[in-house]
Amino acid sequence: MTDNIDTTPIGLLTDKVVFITGASRGIGAAAARLFAREGAAVVLAARSSDALDRIVSEIRADGGVADAAALDLADRASIRAAVNRVEELHGRLDGAFNNGAAVQQPGPLDTTSDDDIDEQFAVNFRSHWTAMTAEAALMRHNGGGAIVNTSSIGSRRANPALPAYGAMKRALNSITETAAVTWAPQGIRVNGITPGGTATEMIDAWEAATPGVIEHINASIPLGRMAEPHEVAEVAAWLLSDRASMVTGALVPVDGGAGA
Ligand SMILES: NC(=O)c1ccc[n+]([C@@H]2O[C@H](COP(=O)([O-])OP(=O)(O)OC[C@H]3O[C@@H](n4cnc5c(N)ncnc54)[C@H](OP(=O)(O)O)[C@@H]3O)[C@@H](O)[C@H]2O)c1
Repeated sequence: MTDNIDTTPIGLLTDKVVFITGASRGIGAAAARLFAREGAAVVLAARSSDALDRIVSEIRADGGVADAAALDLADRASIRAAVNRVEELHGRLDGAFNNGAAVQQPGPLDTTSDDDIDEQFAVNFRSHWTAMTAEAALMRHNGGGAIVNTSSIGSRRANPALPAYGAMKRALNSITETAAVTWAPQGIRVNGITPGGTATEMIDAWEAATPGVIEHINASIPLGRMAEPHEVAEVAAWLLSDRASMVTGALVPVDGGAGA
């Protein structure tokens, strides 16, 4: 038996409605632009409404379909409200890129502040639980969908410089795999990506707190450089697309070989 191959050239995400958190800059903004170019109607979420509106206008000017839904990932009600906004706008949800996160004040376990631990828990972990649950509920109305969570290379091993960040990203890996297994019978695929160093404001903030860290990261990457945000977004686009139809529960490195 041979697979039936459709040779019509289409965008990777044509006709899909995709919700993206952390879309005001960095990897999320690159993803919003890329997913729209690949044919998705995108809904961009973050706290900075002005930045979201700017990117929405750009995408629309290029002929894409985009809207903004402001949210604070620390606030569960605002996450649910943003997913409800997607339903009001489009009546469905096919893909979700749960990508927003905050970086902690770099420093060892002993001196990580309670405030940092609480923020890392709420923004980098709990938010994904809340978001995935709301997203999956909406996806079920139309027979399923795909979710991609942005974890980090920093989740894979001991993380002496960003201990709370690393712990919450590892916890995110756990619920990513659990959600994949739980929701597979409902047609919902759930995957994670673990980027390595990527040239965004998050890395700039780390460099400001720890001068020299960018040079150190670059030296640790076999491909010899950090990723550009759009290179990370490409992997999320594929995982969200039907071309990844047999991939679920995977944590895909996008790190230039740094984790190898
Ligand atoms: N850059 C790297 O080297 C790297 C490496 C590994 C993993 N990652 C991961 O990649 C993802 C994207 O990071 P990035 O590098 O693109 O960082 P970034 O440029 O700092 O962007 C972070 C995004 O998250 C949003 N965000 C932060 N706190 C939020 C909150 N409380 N509520 C709502 N939105 C919030 C920000 O929007 P507002 O401030 O407008 O709310 C922004 O859109 C994150 O999950 C990060 O952990 C990055």
